Amino acid sequence: MAKGPEGKTILLGVTGSIAAYKAPAILRRLKGLGADVIVAMTKAGTEFVTPLTFRALSGNPVLVEMFEPATEWQIEHVILAQKVDLVLIAPATANIIGKIASGIADDMVSLTVMATKAPVMIAPAMNVDMYENPIVQENIKKLKGVGYTFVEPGVGVLATGVEGRGRLAELEEIVEKVCKLLSEERGR
Ligand SMILES: Cc1cc2nc3c(=O)[nH]c(=O)nc-3n(C[C@H](O)[C@H](O)[C@H](O)COP(=O)(O)O)c2cc1C
Repeated sequence: MAKGPEGKTILLGVTGSIAAYKAPAILRRLKGLGADVIVAMTKAGTEFVTPLTFRALSGNPVLVEMFEPATEWQIEHVILAQKVDLVLIAPATANIIGKIASGIADDMVSLTVMATKAPVMIAPAMNVDMYENPIVQENIKKLKGVGYTFVEPGVGVLATGVEGRGRLAELEEIVEKVCKLLSEERGR
């Protein structure tokens, strides 16, 4: 029997965090486990890792622009949102968490989240002061309350050299949670 990500379609949302360089490794692991991975990026995300990297690794077009006449998927973003089995945003910025919590859908990541009924998993990555900001915490609480799953960031030395909570969770933990959530969905 198929388990976890095997045969599943995962939308990987990549946003403008310094931890974006870890997203290609997440993609590779999920693909290695048999998932079809489609990447959507915010414009800020493309400042950190190029869409080309994700296109080459996923074998799929990468969604960034909302209004460019390009792939069938961009036009049919609602169909894409319906097609995916899980949305994983890794890394997730304070900004994207705030947008989603406020119902904003003005980039390919937040737009897909708004249009999907698939489970959404969010792996935040940010500076400790941003992570501890009461507004960010309130947004996380709100999203957890409506059924979004979070992969808590770890504690360690952050990119800014400061120590605290905010590091993107380890790849193994993220992938394990994805496998668990997809297995639970299979059991429904
Ligand atoms: C070098 C650099 C690193 C950044 N790292 C982070 C980060 O780890 N987490 C975060 O929430 N914002 C970070 N930001 C700020 C975001 O890039 C900024 O809020 C951006 O508007 C996020 O856009 P997006 O959510 O659409 O990707 C960083 C900015 C810069 C210039």
